[in-house]
Amino acid sequence: MAMTGVLRPGHMQLRVLDIEESVKFYKDVVGLVETGRDASGRVYFKAWDERDHNSLILREADRAGVDFFAFKVLDKATLEKLDADLQAYGLKTERIPAGDLLETGERVRFEIPTGHLIELYAEKTDVGNGLGYTNPNPWCAQSEHGIAPTRLDHCLLYGPDIDGALDIFTKVLGFYLVEHVLLEDGKTNLAIWLSCSHKAHDIAFVRHPEPGKLHHVSFLLETWEDVLRAADIMSMNKSSIDIGPTRHGITRGTTIYAFDNSGNRYEVFCGGYQPYPDSHPITWTWDEVGTGIFFHDRALNDRFLSVVT
Ligand SMILES: [Fe+2]
Repeated sequence: MAMTGVLRPGHMQLRVLDIEESVKFYKDVVGLVETGRDASGRVYFKAWDERDHNSLILREADRAGVDFFAFKVLDKATLEKLDADLQAYGLKTERIPAGDLLETGERVRFEIPTGHLIELYAEKTDVGNGLGYTNPNPWCAQSEHGIAPTRLDHCLLYGPDIDGALDIFTKVLGFYLVEHVLLEDGKTNLAIWLSCSHKAHDIAFVRHPEPGKLHHVSFLLETWEDVLRAADIMSMNKSSIDIGPTRHGITRGTTIYAFDNSGNRYEVFCGGYQPYPDSHPITWTWDEVGTGIFFHDRALNDRFLSVVT
């Protein structure tokens, strides 16, 4: 696939209740790499195999949740074009100057009808993955510390108008619908999974009355053995597991949902099939929604639809 336009999820700013406790958690349990701190007290992380300076930014606040989720685009010309396209669509965009986030260029921010702030940017400093760009080793000490996912993979957001979000992501930003779950009426979307790439999803939404909510941020693991090891590490650190290890019917990925010490849900995710933009979307009906979300249990737990930050 020739990658143009929006490339991938780039960064998320996450609110946490106690910054130092959260830094310890994301560094030592999740196994992310701390890459910097800014004057406002935000702490920056990346997954070990990511090359750009940061993908998760923690901000201390009195309530948990997500401030914004961002996608990296191909280049500055693409950023200008997509900003113009968003405005032509009827959205108001805001420019956040380069340097507001460490080692990150200018960002284009806009609010989508689910109440979330989404950002696009073209530049973030390449700090490498610790392996070098010539004759690299396959892994390093950072890849063995904590759960150690390889990258920020996707997020699942909860908000009211997911059809409005679907319209913007597919008509303006070049995403395509990979899977969706229908409500009992057989036509209204309860949930949508969208890709801008070859991945089973880069972002997903669930219909929910409150705007701007986070269901989970997800990090990628490479093997099912890594997922089992992640569950061991969670339990060894008495970290709260929501469900898993198990498998999603939707995307076919293997998964654990767990909570950080502020109550934000995070996921470690492995696998999933590889769709293309011409792949026919997969539909899950209301009577099989439990199977779609948790393939082995074939039932939703109450927390899946009710616990968000
Ligand atoms: Fe997920």
